[in-house]
Amino acid sequence: MIPDSFKQDLLNRVDIVDVVSRYVQLKKGGANYLGLCPFHSEKTPSFTVSPAKQFYHCFGCGAHGNAIGFLMAYASLGYVDALKDLAAQVGMQLPESRPATPQEAARREREADLGTVMEKAMEFYRGELKKSARAIEYLKGRGLTGEIAARFRIGYAPDDWQALKQVFPYEEKSLVEAGLVIENDDKRYDRFRDRVMFPIFSARGSVIGFGGRVLGEGEPKYLNSPETPLFEKGRELYGLVQARDAIRSAGFALVVEGYMDVVALAQYGVGNAVATLGTATTPVHVAKLLRLADELVFCFDGDTAGRKAAWRALEVSLPLAPDHKPIRFLFLPEGEDPDSFVRKHGADEFRRRVRSSETLSQFLLAQLRAECDLASPEGRARFVSLAKPHVQKTTAPALRLQLINEVARLGQVPDGEIERLLELPQRARFNRPAPARRSFEAPASLEWTLLTALLSDLTLVEHIDPDLLAPGRPESEALLAIREKCEAAEDTSFAVLMDSLTGHPSLETVLKALKYGEDLAFDAESARGEFQHALTGLEVRSRKKELDELRARLQSKEDLVLFNEKNLAYQRLRGALPSP
Ligand code: UTP
Ligand code: MN
Repeated sequence: MIPDSFKQDLLNRVDIVDVVSRYVQLKKGGANYLGLCPFHSEKTPSFTVSPAKQFYHCFGCGAHGNAIGFLMAYASLGYVDALKDLAAQVGMQLPESRPATPQEAARREREADLGTVMEKAMEFYRGELKKSARAIEYLKGRGLTGEIAARFRIGYAPDDWQALKQVFPYEEKSLVEAGLVIENDDKRYDRFRDRVMFPIFSARGSVIGFGGRVLGEGEPKYLNSPETPLFEKGRELYGLVQARDAIRSAGFALVVEGYMDVVALAQYGVGNAVATLGTATTPVHVAKLLRLADELVFCFDGDTAGRKAAWRALEVSLPLAPDHKPIRFLFLPEGEDPDSFVRKHGADEFRRRVRSSETLSQFLLAQLRAECDLASPEGRARFVSLAKPHVQKTTAPALRLQLINEVARLGQVPDGEIERLLELPQRARFNRPAPARRSFEAPASLEWTLLTALLSDLTLVEHIDPDLLAPGRPESEALLAIREKCEAAEDTSFAVLMDSLTGHPSLETVLKALKYGEDLAFDAESARGEFQHALTGLEVRSRKKELDELRARLQSKEDLVLFNEKNLAYQRLRGALPSP
């Protein structure tokens, strides 16, 4: 269990507008942001995101929630993963659900130690580069300036079996754990020898691994750090730290294959490139980049291996890329990589190619068409069946629709048949039409006014007196629920409140009141005014009720007196009692 206080803290730090805009294009409209709902298909926007409330709500299909809920629903993340994702964005660490065990504490300490070791090794290699004319010559030969080498903290591991002995006590266990030293029987020696060293940084900017290239010919060409507690290849991108600003300003990120591609592009002024680390593109890579960039361009060699790698990147991207963050594929001429290309043809030509690169759908459809003979019925049938898993995986609603149309057109499938053929999963969130809007009549009660006003300004909650509320009304129940939840939380924000109301029987009333209040477009001041007005009304009502009751009681007292008098007179009449 993650403590509620952490969740509240997190929700207070993230901005739901940032989170949602990673996936949905939003436009400012008054106090809120508006966009096309990602959870049902619609042509006019009814999906609102409120920065003040840190809450999204679709008036079309009723989808709603806070930043955590949005990630869970849109990105299909589990609760903990959604928290992790958000926490990472605001630089928070997910707390342990229980106090760290001694082993865990030890491990964390270990990681900190390893970080220090890596840092020290990097500085050592950088110093060694300055001393090695041969390594400097090699880098110069590849067109790199000292400035770029410094920017990427490039170094050199000398041709020595135990060079690291110069700066470390060599028996240190952490050298082995950091992957810098190899232990064989009782012999120890440096992993990296006589290689140009490319440090790999985490997104936070600490050195977590190295890639070492031979100077010239030799096997393996690149030697990489092994996976260590710090370094997991499938999650990291080479050059991300250096590229971040350029990605932001260019609006897109380039994904290339090699260390030298990143560095050479930067040398030529194309600073927004990152590389996967000798692994295929993973969903983590794509998700990381989509957070930073509005567009991704995968750049691969034009050969079969390049096409294969691009295909893999496409498959990984389909479920992740939203409509407003397009993905493109640039294939360089056979035998060229970005490094050789930019050196031969210059940055302008490279940029021109980027601009005219294939879109994801072009690449996908071309690739599928290449495998089928669209001139024959069998070929078209095969085409549709090959397209099926890809269309199914596409989550961006507009792109998906475009793909469906194209597949239907190329496969010559008549209208209305294609969805069935593609077996599009009845994923509620994308195919569900908006439920017919039931006309909703707001209850004409003081409690309702109180509720709608309260939702505009939760700080008013302390003024609610449960004794004043008419029992049994849904709006009273909702007010009571809000009061209870706000009291339970140390610090109530709207997003936290709504989170705690998940599954609560009053949630629907609260959402209706929310929409009602939105339509009235209360500002904070008029909300307070309305609230006060309703509160006074409730007090008056309750006084009146007391008075009425008092009167009723008085009335019945009078009746009793009268009855007693009549009774006495009657009995006297019957002679049962003596006359007074
Ligand atoms: P390439 O073989 O395309 O090399 O590998 P390159 O990037 O063009 O390198 P240069 O220009 O010859 O210096 C692409 C990437 O694959 C990984 C590295 O990350 C490399 O940058 N790789 C390649 C390895 O990890 N080990 C290898 O032996 C080769
Ligand atoms: Mn190369």
